[in-house]
Amino acid sequence: MSHSDGVSIFLFILFVLYLFSDNSKKVNNEDDVNATELTQKLIKDMEAKWSKYFVDHIEPLLHDGNPVDITINHIKHVHKPVNQIETTFIISEVDKIIAASCSPGMGSSIQDIKVPGINTFPVLCDSIFADSGWTVILRRLDGSVNFNRNWIEYRRGFGDLHSEFFIGLEKLHRMTKWHTHELIIYLKDEDNEVRHAQYSEFRIDNAAASYALRVLGAYSGNAGDSLSTHINATFSTPDTNKDCAMAYKSGWWFHKCMDSNLNGVYESNEVDAGITGIVWSSWQMKPIKFAQMMIRPI
Ligand SMILES: *[C@@H]1O[C@H](CO)[C@@H](O)[C@H](O)[C@H]1NC(C)=O
Ligand SMILES: *[C@@H]1O[C@H](CO)[C@@H](O)[C@H](O)[C@H]1NC(C)=O
Repeated sequence: MSHSDGVSIFLFILFVLYLFSDNSKKVNNEDDVNATELTQKLIKDMEAKWSKYFVDHIEPLLHDGNPVDITINHIKHVHKPVNQIETTFIISEVDKIIAASCSPGMGSSIQDIKVPGINTFPVLCDSIFADSGWTVILRRLDGSVNFNRNWIEYRRGFGDLHSEFFIGLEKLHRMTKWHTHELIIYLKDEDNEVRHAQYSEFRIDNAAASYALRVLGAYSGNAGDSLSTHINATFSTPDTNKDCAMAYKSGWWFHKCMDSNLNGVYESNEVDAGITGIVWSSWQMKPIKFAQMMIRPI
């Protein structure tokens, strides 16, 4: 190697170093000037990546009929987010997934829920009677809605979420199929005395099993237990059961005919109230002015 070759190589190396230093300076300047732009691009890339992740992995889970909670756990535990932007995006996506039941944050209001196997539907959430996260499945308060209805109506549900209603047997079955739920019942008599009955589990079987009251769990409360004798009773309505449902003018899990019937006629007459009325026999036969059944996932 000649002396001039050595100088040329030295100069070449200097030139390359200059280029590099100049380039890195340029990049740094651009970063400074366009910080917002770059951040937005980064977020867009992340969102695109996570949108694809949702389409590829989450949607199929939902269509397979998995409960939403499992899906959320799946995202949180199986595919851990790698940075703050991804975490924020996942949280916003999870918020878009409609809850499978009233959640504690919903307070007392009407909300849409999505249960595997049926379309989104509105429910009444209650956080007044027994803290929060309860979905109201039955409510009686003024006699404005007729509960003497046929099988199809009890299956589908009827009434008005703002006043009296029954949520519907198919929804009850679907809701309690995927999650273990607890049940609480609030009753108020004409003297405004309030009693409750709580059951640690509540599950309704499917249509083929006539929506039998399959699981009830342990009783607690101060209204007495007037439902445990109905375990495994099928649901029946006046058009399907001439003995009990027709006599008591309502649909219920009748069994010999009943110890309780919260779908009975809204009566003010004391004699009728204890027979065809809203009955919870372990408490009293006085007219019940208010009844509310609520369930919550446990
Ligand atoms: C960011 O850089 C581009 C060129 O790449 C330039 O046109 C634009 O003005 C810069 N943005 C800001 C906010 O200076
Ligand atoms: C209800 O029926 C199921 C079978 O479908 C049975 O395993 C269970 O023991 C029954 N429960 C009661 C309390 O009879």
